[in-house]
Amino acid sequence: MRLRRPALPDPRTRGEFQRRLLAWYRRHGRHLPWRKTRDPYSILVSEIMLQQTQVERVIPKYREFLRRYPTLEALARASLQEVKRTWYPLGYNIRPVRLHGIARETLARYNGRLPDDERSLRAFKGIGPYTAGALRSFAFEQDAPILDTNVRRVLGRVFLGPRRMRSLRGQKAWWDLSAALVPPGKAYDFNQALMDFGATWCTPRNPRCSPCPMKAFCKFFEGHHRVKA
Ligand code: ADE
Repeated sequence: MRLRRPALPDPRTRGEFQRRLLAWYRRHGRHLPWRKTRDPYSILVSEIMLQQTQVERVIPKYREFLRRYPTLEALARASLQEVKRTWYPLGYNIRPVRLHGIARETLARYNGRLPDDERSLRAFKGIGPYTAGALRSFAFEQDAPILDTNVRRVLGRVFLGPRRMRSLRGQKAWWDLSAALVPPGKAYDFNQALMDFGATWCTPRNPRCSPCPMKAFCKFFEGHHRVKA
């Protein structure tokens, strides 16, 4: 059977997941340079760089890029050729073109201030659903969900388990699940925590189940690890 709309987790499990994830993040969260700022432009740079690129490779380039273009205006004024050279060797080279385009368009249409609503953000080339959610929650502290392959794996394992997560195909159902979990007023920490939990703990292979704070209710753990009585 193809499941389109799984029941959303009950409020108690939801609350436990939120509480435990935030506690986990306080202990195990990574100290990353884009988490030290609330400047929307810097966060935009980080999120475009983090599309398809590992955190470790992004860190030095993020710093270099912001030294060279400290503001959205500085980036918009630079030539595209130079921006592409600065981007090297991060790869997926459409990204500096898009980022430069976003800076110029923001200057022209929004007086240099990045818009904060879903529709305006998604209208930019280079900003897809993930990046729009990341900007809304990280740059503008809105209660917006995020979803990428890491988040999908974490939520699928915890709330659906191996069989049901394979059968859940529609994007909307996954976004609904992610949205249902965002604790009001805490989307920034919660979403950053989800990213780290997926990248360093609930990894594709060898997830760290035995010390995991979610194992009391994790469907994946229940299916794979619980000793049968
Ligand atoms: N990947 C995409 N966005 C990220 C973030 N804010 N922190 C860590 N990894 C990410």
